[in-house]
Amino acid sequence: MKKLVVLSGAGISAESGIKTFRESNGLWENHEVTDVASPEGWERDPHLVLDFYNQRRKQLLECEPNAGHKGIVELEKNFDVHVITQNVDNLHERAGSSKILHLHGELTKVESTKDKNLVYDLDGWELKWGDKCEKGAQLRPHIVWFGEAVPAIEPAIELTRAADILVVVGTSLNVYPAAGLINYVSKRTPIYLIDPGQPLYTPAPNITFINEKASTGVQKLINLLSQ
Ligand code: APR
Repeated sequence: MKKLVVLSGAGISAESGIKTFRESNGLWENHEVTDVASPEGWERDPHLVLDFYNQRRKQLLECEPNAGHKGIVELEKNFDVHVITQNVDNLHERAGSSKILHLHGELTKVESTKDKNLVYDLDGWELKWGDKCEKGAQLRPHIVWFGEAVPAIEPAIELTRAADILVVVGTSLNVYPAAGLINYVSKRTPIYLIDPGQPLYTPAPNITFINEKASTGVQKLINLLSQ
């Protein structure tokens, strides 16, 4: 089976009701991104950060995977599909994708502030000040914040290098190192970009731009790949 690698971003979850990041002037749900998604923000006001991610988890409970997530599962019938996602939601999992690599962490998990290797599933939506790891340190969201290392980038690069087909869906390709992944495919590897906006890309013979939302765009991709 051919290896099909999907790089997804916030846009694939937009039709599930989760806002993308760059649609509101750099603010994220009315917050400066640096206040809620950086180590400095956490130092300054951990209560604000905990509350912010608690709200994101609560919102996630009310969201369902959409036709875009489901279409990517459908591709598994004919391809060895690996999803690399920048999203911290669990909608790819809930749709049924079997191989998912989260580059920027996961909302449903928490980690120790003392030892990054101590990662736990969170029961429910609320992480409280005073919730501690087994070493007695405060727990924080299991999210890769701005300015932090992206440990999953190495396996993501390996997957992308080995891709026979690359599908990029719902990402503005603004944030590195994720955005740089597209440079690891060979010049002949077909790349499909699905986005209703105008993402940054260089026109090339191997690039097909599907200028649609994820729901219809992924369906169009399935049709193109079955021809
Ligand atoms: N279907 C597909 N794409 C869509 C849809 C949709 N229904 N609606 C919007 N989009 C597109 C937008 O046109 C845009 O190109 O999704 C993209 C979203 O881009 P961003 O908001 O920049 O999100 P993303 O690329 O995932 O951001 C990367 O930045 O803030 C950080 O860590 C955060 O993982 C995030 C990273």
